[in-house]
Amino acid sequence: MIEKVPNHQAGQQFGEQAKSAASGKMPLRAARCGALKGRVTPPGDKSISHRALMLSAISMGEARVTGLLESEDVVATAQALRQCGVLIDQVGPGEWLIGGVGVHGLDQPGNIIDMGNSGTSARLFSGLAAAHPFAFHMTGDASLRKRPMGRVIEPLSRMGAQFIGAAGGRMPMTVIGAETLLAIEYEVPVPSAQVKSAVLLAALHAKGRSQVIERVATRDHTERMLRYLGADLESVTGTDGETIITIDGFPDLLARDMTVPGDPSSAAFAAVAAAIVPGSEIEITGIGRNPQRAGLYQTLEEMGADLTWQGDRQAGGETVGDLMVRAGPLKGVDVPAARAPSMIDEYPILAVAASCAVGRTVMRGLGELRVKESDRLAGIATGLAACGVEVAIEGDTLIVEGIGNKNGGNGTKGGAPMGGANVATALDHRMAMSFLVLGLVADAPVTIDDATPISTSYPGFVESFTALGADISAPS
Ligand code: S3P
Repeated sequence: MIEKVPNHQAGQQFGEQAKSAASGKMPLRAARCGALKGRVTPPGDKSISHRALMLSAISMGEARVTGLLESEDVVATAQALRQCGVLIDQVGPGEWLIGGVGVHGLDQPGNIIDMGNSGTSARLFSGLAAAHPFAFHMTGDASLRKRPMGRVIEPLSRMGAQFIGAAGGRMPMTVIGAETLLAIEYEVPVPSAQVKSAVLLAALHAKGRSQVIERVATRDHTERMLRYLGADLESVTGTDGETIITIDGFPDLLARDMTVPGDPSSAAFAAVAAAIVPGSEIEITGIGRNPQRAGLYQTLEEMGADLTWQGDRQAGGETVGDLMVRAGPLKGVDVPAARAPSMIDEYPILAVAASCAVGRTVMRGLGELRVKESDRLAGIATGLAACGVEVAIEGDTLIVEGIGNKNGGNGTKGGAPMGGANVATALDHRMAMSFLVLGLVADAPVTIDDATPISTSYPGFVESFTALGADISAPS
C-alpha cells in the first residue's frame, strides 16, 4: 500500500544511524572518483507521475499506471487523493492502480492535507479542490510554506473558489471550492506549468469553454494527458507565438492505462556527472524527450558535451530515448532567457557543469529560481563560491566562470573546482544532488548538510551513482 512506498530513500542506504537523531538531517560527502561507467535508468518523471495520479483519480474507471515515481512528492499527491476517497494501490514496483471517481467525485477530506515539500502537489491539487464544494485545509513543510500560492489563488478565485491563506498568499491555506466554476480566459503571468495546470484542472469543472494563454511555452504534460483521457482540449500557436489552450468543461474522462517515462530532470545529474568526470562513459535509458523539458540537453550539446541519443520510442503519449554520455571538455555558453522554462529545474546541475567548463557561462532569465524549493539562485552562487568557483548574480542572470582553463587538474581539459565546502541544501533535493555531483570532480570532497530531501524526487540516487563508480558516503 502507498504508505510504505519510498523504500530506497537516501537515508536507508547508509542506515538510519547516518541521520542525526537531533536534527533529522543526513549529511553526505562526495569525493573525486575514477571514470563513471555503466547504465542507469532514471526514476519515473515527477511531473507526469503527479498528473497520472490526479487525472486518473478524476476519470471514470480504473487505471493502471506503470513506471510511477515512488518518491515523497508523488506520495504526497497520492495521500491527498486518498484523503478525498480515491482508492490508490501499489500492485508491483512502479505499478499502481487508481480507482477513478470522475470529475466532481472527490469527497471532503477528514483532515488537513500535508503536501510535504511538493509545490506541484499543492498547486495542481488546488485546481481540483476549487471545483468541489467543501473546505480543503492544506499545509506543507518549511520550504513549501514559503512558496507563493497567490499565482494559483488569483485565477482560481476568479473562477469562483475561495481561499484563506497565510500572509502573502502562502500555505497553510484553505481552499473552499464551488459547486460550479466560471469559465475563464487567463493569460498566465509567470511561465509556470503548475499555474497553467491548476487552471486547466479547474476548467474541467467550469461551465463552458476556458482559455489559457502562455506567452512562453512550459511543459505540456497536463494537456497531453487530458487529451489522452478524452478531454476536449486544443492547443494552438497564436500570431505572436503565444500558446492558446482551449478546454471545454465537464468532459467524460475515461480512465486509461499509462506508462510514465524516465524523468529528464533526474537524468540530468548522471548526464552532467558523466560529462565532467574524466574518462566516463554511461548510458541513461528511457529518458522523456518532451521538447519543453529538453533545455539542459540542448545546452550541454552547445557546451560541446558528447551526447548521443538513440532508440526513440513512444511511452504514454511522450517520446522517450536512451542517451550515451562520454566525458570531454566543455566550454562556457550563453543560455538565453527564452530557454529557461524548458530547463527550469536544471540550473543547479548546469551551474556545476559550467563551473568545470572552459570560459564563462551566462544563464539568463532565472527569476523563478528564487521561488523553488529554496532560493536556488542564491544557493547556487553561495555553494559554488564556497567551492572556489567565481560566480556572480546580476538581476536574474547567473554568471559562472568555468575553472576548466585553470589549475590543469581534472583531465577532461584544465582544472576542477576546489571543493572542500559544506553546502546547505535548504530542503532542496536538486541542490543536494547537484553539489554531490560537483564533489565527484572537485580537488577536495564536497559535503552536503542534508541528503534527506533527495527522496522527494530521486529515491535510489546514491545507490545508482555508487553503482556507476561514484564516491558518495556518509562523512566519518
Ligand atoms: C512543474 C513545473 C515547474 C517545475 C516543477 C514541476 C510541474 O514549476 O519547476 O518542478 O510539474 O508542473 P513551475 O510551474 O513553478 O515553473
